[in-house]
Amino acid sequence: MTKQQMLNDLKKECEKCQVCEIGKCRTNLVFGSGNPDTARIVLIGEAPGEQEDLQGIPFVGKAGQFMNEYLEKAEIDRKKDLYIINTLKCRPFLIKNPQKGIKSNRPPKREEKLACEAFMLKQIEIINPKLIILCGNNALKSLCGSKYTITNVHGKLANLEYKGRKAIAIYHPSYLISYAHSEVKNQEFLEDLKYIKSLVD
Ligand code: URA
Repeated sequence: MTKQQMLNDLKKECEKCQVCEIGKCRTNLVFGSGNPDTARIVLIGEAPGEQEDLQGIPFVGKAGQFMNEYLEKAEIDRKKDLYIINTLKCRPFLIKNPQKGIKSNRPPKREEKLACEAFMLKQIEIINPKLIILCGNNALKSLCGSKYTITNVHGKLANLEYKGRKAIAIYHPSYLISYAHSEVKNQEFLEDLKYIKSLVD
């Protein structure tokens, strides 16, 4: 069985999952994107937002556009080098305006992360990447435990790993977009991505 076939089977299983409320009212499952045969890196984000839910693809909204710009600057090819997933496959949301049906994003709940965890771990095992990128605190803590914080470990190989595979944390683009004095942090984000590129080349 090829990696793609194994992922297709897992996706079918994931599509049936209705453990959480958000699984019952999603527009689309956001399973993952990338080429499992060429991806040397699995990048793990937090959870789908509005655009991701509408399109069924991770990182296609504002945060995704920001990330694409910096991946390009670091000469990392999103389609070839990365397989992108999230800790949650469905959009966690709050109803902001019930009359107009307007939703806003919210952080994943602990029980949602637990319900989705097995799918994320299986994706990593199937793709078997050389390196895992943990994008943001949520992904970092989900895979490596709560003793780490992005501010302390971003861009360092530190002791992060998952089942013998090296992992490295980076800032979440949504954090950088909302950060008031972001130029320094943006530069750090770029340096971290360039370092990642050097690790897999
Ligand atoms: N933020 C994430 O963490 N993941 C996405 O897919 C989009 C935005």
